[in-house]
Amino acid sequence: MIDTLFSLNGRSALITGAAGTLGNRSARVLARLGAKIFISDHPSEAQVLNKIANDLRSQGVDVEILLCDVTKEQDVTKTFEHATVSQPLDVFVNLAGIMLRKGLVDTSLEEWQRVIDVNLTGTWLLNRAAAKAMGPVGSGKIINFSSVYAERVGPVPESAYYASKAGIGNLTRSVASELGASGVTVNCLALGVFYPTQMTAPLKDSPDTLKWFSDRTMLGRLGDPEVDLDGPLVLLATQASNYITGQIIYVDGGWSAW
Ligand SMILES: NC(=O)c1ccc[n+]([C@@H]2O[C@H](COP(=O)([O-])OP(=O)(O)OC[C@H]3O[C@@H](n4cnc5c(N)ncnc54)[C@H](O)[C@@H]3O)[C@@H](O)[C@H]2O)c1
Repeated sequence: MIDTLFSLNGRSALITGAAGTLGNRSARVLARLGAKIFISDHPSEAQVLNKIANDLRSQGVDVEILLCDVTKEQDVTKTFEHATVSQPLDVFVNLAGIMLRKGLVDTSLEEWQRVIDVNLTGTWLLNRAAAKAMGPVGSGKIINFSSVYAERVGPVPESAYYASKAGIGNLTRSVASELGASGVTVNCLALGVFYPTQMTAPLKDSPDTLKWFSDRTMLGRLGDPEVDLDGPLVLLATQASNYITGQIIYVDGGWSAW
């Protein structure tokens, strides 16, 4: 049992936000464990997904692209239909997200709504579709992504982002409680600042802010996108976490513990 605890041989995994930095990394990590991979992102990212898919195929990975705007109910439904055509879906990793670095009084209603639509409503639509796909099968792993900013605020004003990430935490607990009896586990990784990713790259122009972030962690450094997500992701995606559900696990170098 121990030998196969972290294996995804014969299993399948769907990753949204896969054209992004952490999504791309997650697809590669789960592929290394043996899973068939579905990489999904907004249709505008088709070219990036093609490049990632070609690269993975050259390494012998079984990979398919599923274009999906996570704010569109029909897209989400079709994505899960396609991902379950040949076998049940074992792992769903939800990394689609956007950030808006804007103060409260400068944020328009449309901008607020867009962040909530992608980050929170998108997560709800995806979790509902995953529940429909995995619940009747009686197994599966849903992994959502939140932030230390679900519990704390930082020096950069981002009220819509903070609120959306806070919602994802309790949505995760709620979905976990509804799916528990079926055997599907639902957890959330709440990240500190992982740098650089496409989302955090603009911070390069604010070295003082980056320093504030790293000083804010107990480990005294930012998260490395190529290293620090791998372990927690593998734990939640594999049989190693079969008795963990409804949890928000902070991957933040100790930020939230202070
Ligand atoms: N990087 C960090 O420090 C950090 C910290 C905390 C939480 N997170 C969360 O992790 C996730 C990934 O972050 P990242 O740093 O890799 O960001 P990223 O910007 O590199 O990736 C996000 C991806 O989401 C996709 N996306 C945006 N809107 C979409 C839509 N409507 N439909 C489908 N896909 C859409 C983007 O195209 C992009 O590929 C996000 O949810 C983010 O909030 C990141």
